[in-house]
Amino acid sequence: MLGDLKPPEVIRSVRFRQSNSLELHNPFPITGKEISKQFREKVIFDKASFQFPLGAKIAVTGANGAGKTTLFKMILDREDGISLSPKAEIGYFAQNGYKFDRNQGVMEFMLENCDYQASEIRAVLASMGFSSNDVRKELSVLSGGEIIKLQLAKMLLGQYNILLMDEPSNFSIFLQWKH
Ligand SMILES: Nc1ncnc2c1ncn2[C@@H]1O[C@H](COP(=O)(O)OP(=O)(O)OP(=O)(O)O)[C@@H](O)[C@H]1O
Ligand SMILES: [Mg+2]
Repeated sequence: MLGDLKPPEVIRSVRFRQSNSLELHNPFPITGKEISKQFREKVIFDKASFQFPLGAKIAVTGANGAGKTTLFKMILDREDGISLSPKAEIGYFAQNGYKFDRNQGVMEFMLENCDYQASEIRAVLASMGFSSNDVRKELSVLSGGEIIKLQLAKMLLGQYNILLMDEPSNFSIFLQWKH
């Protein structure tokens, strides 16, 4: 059956605005110096060092269980050896998703801790393929892909200058990031 799948015909591009005050200047906003992590006898990192340069799009790859999610959590928790630019505001897309309040509506979820107007949110959701009917739904009835898109939209509307996305790619969507 997989052979019958066709690529999506329309690739939509979505623009998100970003405030200049969030601009980072540190040439390496995230660095790790000799970070170590071990769960019982399993060593995940042994004095590993890295530098993530400003403006870079970096893919962290590795086998299941290699330590990708662990690395993200170490960065978020600013664990020993991790240095972040003081101006860093990190938006995080969690691999295992959020626990959704069954009775929460799509707009209610999007408006929570968000500086955008409802009309702007509706426009963004529409450009990501949500119909006005979808926007009136409760989170509990959304499909897996819709929930992921909604989480992504919420993260992209947030006031962040670094995005850590843990495997958000289980569906087809094309997003273009422009200042
Ligand atoms: N809190 C924990 N306690 C014990 N072991 C843990 C803990 N968190 C992670 N691990 C183990 O550490 C290893 C790395 O896990 P991690 O989730 O970082 O892998 P990953 O690279 O993100 O894998 P995947 O590709 O499946 O998402 C795994 O073997 C996992 O079982
Ligand atoms: Mg993972």
